[in-house]
Amino acid sequence: MAYSERTPPPRHAQTGSSLCPAVSLLLVLFTCNVRYAACGASNIVLILSDDQDVELGGMTPMKKTKLLIGDAGATFSNAYTATALGCPSRSSILTGNYPHNHAVRNDSLAGNCSSPLWQKGPETLALPVYLSKRKYRTFFAGKYLEQYGTKEAGEFAHVPPGWDLWHALVGDTKYYNYSLSVNGKEEKHGDSYEKDYFTDLILNRSLEFLDKRSLGQPFFMMLSPPAAHAPWTAAPQYQKEFSDVKAPRDGSFNKPGKDKHWLLRQPPNPMAGSSMDFLDDAYRKRWQTLLSVDDMVEKLVKKLEDLKELNNTYIFYASDNGFHAGQFSLPIDKRQLYEFDIRVPLMVRGPGIAPKQIVKAPVLNIDLAPTILDISGSDLPIMDGQSFLSQMAPSLRSGPSRSCFLVEHTGEGSPVPDPACPKLGCGLSHCLPNCVCEDSYNNTYACVRTLVGINLQYCEFSDNESFVEVYNLTSDLSQLVNIVKKVDPALLQAMNQHLIKLQSCAGSSCHDNGINGLYCVMGCIMFNSLPHRPH
Ligand SMILES: *[C@@H]1O[C@H](CO)[C@@H](O)[C@H](O)[C@H]1NC(C)=O
Ligand SMILES: *[C@@H]1O[C@H](CO)[C@@H](O)[C@H](O)[C@H]1NC(C)=O
Ligand SMILES: *[C@@H]1O[C@H](CO)[C@@H](O)[C@H](O)[C@H]1NC(C)=O
Ligand SMILES: *[C@@H]1O[C@H](CO)[C@@H](O)[C@H](O)[C@H]1NC(C)=O
Ligand SMILES: *[C@@H]1O[C@H](CO)[C@@H](O)[C@H](O)[C@H]1NC(C)=O
Ligand SMILES: *[C@@H]1O[C@H](CO)[C@@H](O)[C@H](O)[C@H]1NC(C)=O
Ligand SMILES: *[C@@H]1O[C@H](CO)[C@@H](O)[C@H](O)[C@H]1NC(C)=O
Ligand SMILES: *[C@@H]1O[C@H](CO)[C@@H](O)[C@H](O)[C@H]1NC(C)=O
Repeated sequence: MAYSERTPPPRHAQTGSSLCPAVSLLLVLFTCNVRYAACGASNIVLILSDDQDVELGGMTPMKKTKLLIGDAGATFSNAYTATALGCPSRSSILTGNYPHNHAVRNDSLAGNCSSPLWQKGPETLALPVYLSKRKYRTFFAGKYLEQYGTKEAGEFAHVPPGWDLWHALVGDTKYYNYSLSVNGKEEKHGDSYEKDYFTDLILNRSLEFLDKRSLGQPFFMMLSPPAAHAPWTAAPQYQKEFSDVKAPRDGSFNKPGKDKHWLLRQPPNPMAGSSMDFLDDAYRKRWQTLLSVDDMVEKLVKKLEDLKELNNTYIFYASDNGFHAGQFSLPIDKRQLYEFDIRVPLMVRGPGIAPKQIVKAPVLNIDLAPTILDISGSDLPIMDGQSFLSQMAPSLRSGPSRSCFLVEHTGEGSPVPDPACPKLGCGLSHCLPNCVCEDSYNNTYACVRTLVGINLQYCEFSDNESFVEVYNLTSDLSQLVNIVKKVDPALLQAMNQHLIKLQSCAGSSCHDNGINGLYCVMGCIMFNSLPHRPH
């Protein structure tokens, strides 16, 4: 196991405490930035929504959040997840590492989601552990990992290390009728809106935490609401909203995936009318559930303002993965390599971040932990991700931006035919009515996504066709045309080499200033200089 080998040497010397006050003051004046607790360490809040896309208008219903976080700080127009599935992505957010290094492959225990091996390994080196060492008071409320609290995962007694206050959902997304682990003790909830609606409960617990905080101790809060994940149960006051809204019909909506991997070539293609009704209904309900998250953000910001903490608090708003609704005739889900599933919303406000910025530099979910640790002043452990503090607050930090990255997914299947559609045989999963399946064992892929210099995606599948998909995102934002047969084989070879490096990268070798950056640049030069074959 590689985890124990990754403890890095401290990167920053501490300021001496034995110096006389005048010298200390001078030191503080010269070095005063967010890194030093001497200047009053900043509080940090991470709000992580569930399955909220950005490509299909997922931020549209969140007007207050856009105003209070986005307009008050930075909105990232190229934020991605390294993997478009809940448990692997959440594990990446917590550890700052790609799935191939935290080894969480899917949402089940067999795929290491909250498994004993995860608990013994990666979880002991996750974000709250470092923040706790940095004397932050840490608070969690919401959905943690899909298998959290199940019998095999230690039930509700397991409180992951580093958390001082813990209110975590047992199992996968629910809005009512759920159990929580409250600091290791079970708390059961029914279905009264006033007492149990999960999004509101997360907010209420957060406000209580803020009221009881100890003055002078910085805090880290992670709030992880159930929206916009199924079963899409909106608060009663929002159940009639957006009655005329439908999923957008543009781009790849209901387009066939003829030149794509096996799963996307399967019928029905185009979708049946009943699938359209189903996805439109889901699309509306998703927006309705997000209205409660929008209220949460408003009330939280207001509370921080009342407590005079707002000007010393960083607030991150992000989602674990994107989502699709009809793209390439897939009714609803995630797990695909395309932009709609891997792009996520990301907005950050806080000290040193100028308002109304649109940051184009690509950032990843694995960058959240290093960025938060950078703000906290922690000696940065080596993670696959990189701090993006310099991208949003250049006055506080300078540093290179990321130009290309890895996207990886291990497809889920079933050893027995799905009862929803036995005729399709084994190897598929998440099958919906009309016999459309959203995943299969052979939907296992890895991609290089480059954004700076060239806007390209190169993906290889572990299936028995060794299928390859390549997209020119400059000319084809909707990824309608797989150009694998049109680009120069030398470019494919370079991308293949780059992908192999990224798939085995760890820590600094995943960074853009390491070997990855070299490949990024090489790929870019080749892409721009090679003659392209005529179409
Ligand atoms: C589960 O995680 C452990 C280490 O954390 C790893 O050794 C093991 O291979 C992982 N299992 C799978 C199926 O990836
Ligand atoms: C909650 O559980 C009760 C008892 O099983 C059930 O009657 C009720 O319909 C459930 N509510 C929701 C919203 O699922
Ligand atoms: C949250 O607090 C508000 C204000 O006190 C209250 O009206 C609401 O019922 C509470 N909701 C939950 C789920 O605790
Ligand atoms: C934040 O605002 C309060 C007054 O509202 C002020 O006392 C404090 O110095 C400010 N802190 C920062 C870091 O600007
Ligand atoms: C989840 O991942 C594990 C490890 O790769 C695998 O054994 C298991 O079959 C996967 N689950 C599904 C439903 O595919
Ligand atoms: C993908 O898996 C399905 C189900 O096992 C199988 O029928 C199909 O031949 C596979 N296709 C490829 C390209 O691997
Ligand atoms: C591809 O794999 C599937 C099982 O996943 C198998 O049924 C099929 O025969 C294989 N096809 C080829 C061409 O190897
Ligand atoms: C990608 O699209 C741009 C803009 O249309 C074009 O200039 C470039 O040649 C394309 N590259 C390939 C490989 O098709």
